[in-house]
Amino acid sequence: MNNIFKFSFYIFLTLAFAWLAFVVGTKKQYGDLEPTAESLEEDGSIAPDADLFPKYMSGLAQQGAKDYLSLGCVTCHTQQVRSEEAGFDVERGWGKRPSVPRDYILQDEVLLGHNRVGPDLANVGLREYSNEWLHQHLFMPQTIVEGSICQPSPFLYETFNESEEDTIETTLNGQPIFIKPSLRANRVVAYLESLKQDYEFPEIKFSKIIEDADLVADATDTNESASEDNESATEDNATAFPTWLASQMDSGKDIYQKVAAGGGMCVTCHMPNGLGNKTAGIPPLAGSDWVLGDKERLIKISIHGLLGEIEVNGEKYNGAMNGFGQTLVSPLNDNQISDVLTYIRNEWGNSAPAVSAEEVAAVRDANKDRPITQMWTVAELEKNSTSD
Ligand code: HEC
Ligand code: HEC
Repeated sequence: MNNIFKFSFYIFLTLAFAWLAFVVGTKKQYGDLEPTAESLEEDGSIAPDADLFPKYMSGLAQQGAKDYLSLGCVTCHTQQVRSEEAGFDVERGWGKRPSVPRDYILQDEVLLGHNRVGPDLANVGLREYSNEWLHQHLFMPQTIVEGSICQPSPFLYETFNESEEDTIETTLNGQPIFIKPSLRANRVVAYLESLKQDYEFPEIKFSKIIEDADLVADATDTNESASEDNESATEDNATAFPTWLASQMDSGKDIYQKVAAGGGMCVTCHMPNGLGNKTAGIPPLAGSDWVLGDKERLIKISIHGLLGEIEVNGEKYNGAMNGFGQTLVSPLNDNQISDVLTYIRNEWGNSAPAVSAEEVAAVRDANKDRPITQMWTVAELEKNSTSD
């Protein structure tokens, strides 16, 4: 009898906890949220003439949300600018601040998404794409962004060989063509145009992270444009280099950031700001003697990897990193390694001579008998450098 009592009691506890966490907790987080003003009066009230946010979407845009969902756009695009601790969305120019629950309270269909194959769209309406551009992109993204894997939706358009009423000129397979949006296409575009979190809430203000990141990261950056939009800041930065270096820097940056075959995925560990992640045991590349110092050692660890205790910027790390030049699946070639190394030597305030593909080839050749998986140990590298 006693046991049955205990048994039921524990079942009750389990259910009660679940209810607290999932029902009461969520209700507390979202349930009472209402549109509010960007900032409140001193006594916590909303000024009578204040604009309230978020705003309702137009009817067309609301229908567009349903089309967006049915077309499957949500499989590749998220609509949530992550908090500063969780990611670098604001630095990437995806929004002026992290998204908060209140942003979504007026949407029937909250399309946060769960995969990020394409850019986050929470603020696509802020990116100054024209209505025409959005239609051309929806029709055939590949005519705008070469090699784009974004899904084309030509079936949403009627096509003509000549200009007609309400057509938009674009190209298809290099040929000029005129497209007329269907109602559905107009809804999707109205929806995209409506996506903007360009207001503040009492609980969240526009982010200062961009300026802060700049302070940590970069002496060479031109700061004025940075707060506006991060893209153009990096472009300005690149044009400050001679052309040959700029192209190595561009391609190196791609390799650093690309989370796919042919990319080193450096960014997932060493972070966009090159500061690594101390708690996860990932050393920084900004200011690191491993990056700025001896080229041969740097090339070696890029090809075969690195194992053992090292000191970077006065902190000890004891982990391991796989090489990138010797993997079985899509290893980086000499050009790619020289580009990514040149990039890390000249980003985030780093400044050191470029690495050439020939230099990488020479180191690769000198170590061609080393087995693929054998990472360099710190002891080995030290021995080599003293015997040199
Ligand atoms: C297979 C994954 C995938 C699907 C599905 C997809 N996209 Fe994309 N989308 C991408 C990628 C990758 C990019 C970046 C390249 C580009 O701009 O074309 C992108 C870019 C975009 C952009 C430009 C964003 C910007 O800020 O530059 C828009 C707008 C867009 N997609 C809308 C859509 C819509 C609308 C749908 C549904 C009809 C859709 N996408 C479906 C992958 C996808
Ligand atoms: C899976 C996580 C991971 C990835 C991806 C990664 N690294 Fe590392 N990296 C590490 C760790 C961990 C260490 C420290 C190894 C040790 O303690 O011996 C390290 C060390 C280094 C070092 C030497 C120490 C320093 O901080 O200067 C360099 C240089 C470096 N990585 C460059 C790169 C480059 C370039 C890429 C992309 C091509 C890359 N890493 C990708 C985890 C990673």
